[in-house]
Amino acid sequence: MTVQDQRRPPRGLSYQELLDADSREVPETMRWNVPADLGLADVPIARYLSREAHELEKQHLWSRVWQVVCRAEQLAQVGDTFVYDIADRSFLVVRHAPGPEGLRAFPNACLHRGRALRDAPGRVEELQCSFHGFCWSLQGQLKRIPSEWDFPQVRPEEFELPRLRIGTWGGFVFLNPDPAAASLGSFLGVLPDLFERWPLAERYVRAHVTKVVNANWKLVQEAFLESYHVVTTHPQLLPGFGDANSQYDVFGNVTRTISPRGVASPLIGWRPSEQEQLDSALDVRLDDPPALRVPPGATARQVLAEAARTALRPTLGPGAELLCDAELVDSYFVNVFPNAHPWGAYNQIFYRFRPNGDDHRSALMEVMLLAPFAGERPPSASEIRLGGDDHWRDAVEVLGSLARVFDQDEFNLEAVQRGLLSTGRTGVTLSGYQEGRIRHFHHLYEQWVPGT
Ligand code: FES
Ligand SMILES: [Fe+2]
Repeated sequence: MTVQDQRRPPRGLSYQELLDADSREVPETMRWNVPADLGLADVPIARYLSREAHELEKQHLWSRVWQVVCRAEQLAQVGDTFVYDIADRSFLVVRHAPGPEGLRAFPNACLHRGRALRDAPGRVEELQCSFHGFCWSLQGQLKRIPSEWDFPQVRPEEFELPRLRIGTWGGFVFLNPDPAAASLGSFLGVLPDLFERWPLAERYVRAHVTKVVNANWKLVQEAFLESYHVVTTHPQLLPGFGDANSQYDVFGNVTRTISPRGVASPLIGWRPSEQEQLDSALDVRLDDPPALRVPPGATARQVLAEAARTALRPTLGPGAELLCDAELVDSYFVNVFPNAHPWGAYNQIFYRFRPNGDDHRSALMEVMLLAPFAGERPPSASEIRLGGDDHWRDAVEVLGSLARVFDQDEFNLEAVQRGLLSTGRTGVTLSGYQEGRIRHFHHLYEQWVPGT
């Protein structure tokens, strides 16, 4: 059986058939349908567990790949700095002038005896090291050295901070430590096309939570690349979530899943009413009254879409009328290799997954909610940091019902890490279609990180 054959769920509509019933014209990019077809081989377990794999990632991946640093609004004013740490390396991004050319990235290290130039984000007029006071301009030119007479070998024109590649897309700042890297535009490929109708640069950070998860960063990320786990991990979603109707696509460094909401999972053995589908999609508890009612003859998807359109009218104006039901209702989750996950349409979610410092056995999972706004840009929410023993529900005020879903995900992840240490197998088995994005991630990973 090929991946092409596997795309039709055992019961229910394919995602493309669901789009045929939309009340509006569907954007062309949602009609793209490109499954991964990468065979059925196992993924080596050592890749998740071994220190060697982590060291190889530092050498071959994090030092060479384009990666998200922060939101552009965190570097809005001249003098703003941002410290970006990945594994054991630290980088410094600085705004020295307004506009798209006004950002620079440097290794976060003084050229004297190596102290990190900045310990935290903040606005400064110059980059002065706090150890002995060597000082650079925001552009990275050497400005002064205390006791300059004592460094006759230092020629200011040769003592500029080394510049790293930097770029922006969608309101995100990216950097690449590799001077020979391909351009950000060629790396991102179709990503701007996918987001053309939903410009992420025109969002603000409504919530920002970063949590330590006690599992390798790839294990954590992979739990957010498929909807296959919903049937067991998030069963409360099933009356209103078409897990097995999801579509999975790969486009070079970019992959996506679109999972329909407001339809029942084909995997449940009973047929929920439209009202039950709506209640589930809106996370209404059994004892609670419905948040919205499905009128006679209407569907849960129609009610969800109209409610979302109404909510977006104050910020999008007439543009809200053009959005099709699928854009307003479905879970549309995108991954940019290796670790950034901007969700499509108006889902608002952005994830990033990284090693937790230099520890390959724990990860940082970062969640931002990116909301549209009208008028002046609202201030970014400050980051809430949660440790490995904390719960996502500790941040329920900012994450809402997502906090419960993330706790369900994390409940599995630490157990996966333990299980892989015990299994005695050499590989992880993946499905052909529904876990195809994970397989595709490893296909790219093997090209970037040889020897794992
Ligand atoms: S290490 Fe920075 S001035 Fe000495
Ligand atoms: Fe999940």
